[in-house]
Amino acid sequence: MANIQIKDLWMVFGTQKQVDQALELDETGVDVKEIREKTGATIAVKNINLDIEDSELFVIVGLSGSGKSTLIRCLNLLNHPTKGDVLIDGTSIVEFDKEELRAFRRKRVSMVFQHFGLLSHRTIIDNVAYGLEIQDVEKEVRHEKAMEAIRVVGLDGWENMKPHQLSGGMKQRVGLARAIVTEPDILLMDEPYSALDPLIRREMQNELLNLEDYINRTIVFITHDMNEAFKMGDRIALMKDGEVVQVGAPQDFFEKPANDYVSDFIADVDKTIILKARNIMKKADYLAHLGQSPKEVMDKLESLGFDYCFVIDKDKKYLGRVSRSDLEHSKDDTIESAIEELEPILRNTYIRGIWEKFENGDPVFPVVDQKGRFRGIISKDLMISALA
Ligand SMILES: Nc1ncnc2c1ncn2[C@@H]1O[C@H](COP(=O)(O)OP(=O)(O)O)[C@@H](O)[C@H]1O
Ligand SMILES: [Mg+2]
Repeated sequence: MANIQIKDLWMVFGTQKQVDQALELDETGVDVKEIREKTGATIAVKNINLDIEDSELFVIVGLSGSGKSTLIRCLNLLNHPTKGDVLIDGTSIVEFDKEELRAFRRKRVSMVFQHFGLLSHRTIIDNVAYGLEIQDVEKEVRHEKAMEAIRVVGLDGWENMKPHQLSGGMKQRVGLARAIVTEPDILLMDEPYSALDPLIRREMQNELLNLEDYINRTIVFITHDMNEAFKMGDRIALMKDGEVVQVGAPQDFFEKPANDYVSDFIADVDKTIILKARNIMKKADYLAHLGQSPKEVMDKLESLGFDYCFVIDKDKKYLGRVSRSDLEHSKDDTIESAIEELEPILRNTYIRGIWEKFENGDPVFPVVDQKGRFRGIISKDLMISALA
């Protein structure tokens, strides 16, 4: 896991002289297109600031040429930014020396491309194992790990084939297996599904959403398709001409589009079909931990004015709910015996399917991933505004 901070980031293509001229013109308010005509330099990424959280699925969306690829390539230094900084878990990567950069690319970050870039003369298993091979992992171990990754993406039985024997969707699975085999903290995906047929594409999207609960990585996912962005993203950054126009959860875009450009961009999106629990959930204001005493939790609830709260264990696993009235009568050392069951909502559930849960009077439900880890809450109010 890792968080990514992008700070005042610029990427300008051109000679040093062109770049200097372009930056100077930018200060006077000239737009990107005119700057390109006047100087020959392209401002592809312009003063971007983003905080991408640990194990978030963060989507960057925008029209072709808006700077998405340029930006994502700054995160593994395939592009060296002209100005600004990229921090991974607080450590700047832009000043990495050769050795540090090599280690970073091998161990912490992987990239999946639209064009799979598979090595055609190698078998699938040797394609997947490639990242381990360059780490000098011995053959037996790397094949074992490669097989595990191949199984995760659903390609077992195909490991001894060559790339040309696979369909586009399957090749994309190989690309994903290859990216996860080194167990990177960060997965960068540049329009991985844009070239696939709609049906396969949908299948791949759903698989990635499910897989994500198991691999638990920070994923930066690029697309030019707003529907895909809303379907995939915990949060989304919309880019235009190298700048971020709006960043937020899908629901934020519907509720308060930053400007007309955003409104136009989302006009054709049917949110009741696309939005999932994860897209509308909020963070819990307070969570109780298994080992806490009834009094401690009760006092906290009282001070917050809450009747109850959800309980997690040290691995963030969701356990149930405790109420003030139950805690009041508890004579135990910990809150464990006061926990009542309340079935959580899986975070990849579409919101149109969860409305009925609210019909029994419970106003707030916990949202979990497939491993049962607590991820957020959904209230009846959130549901109402999401469906509006
Ligand atoms: N290596 C490069 N040299 C010069 N210009 C580039 C280079 N890479 C991208 N660009 C330009 O930067 C802008 C953003 O491109 P890109 O990041 O590929 O956009 P997107 O991925 O959103 O389609 C485009 O105008 C593109 O032509
Ligand atoms: Mg691109």
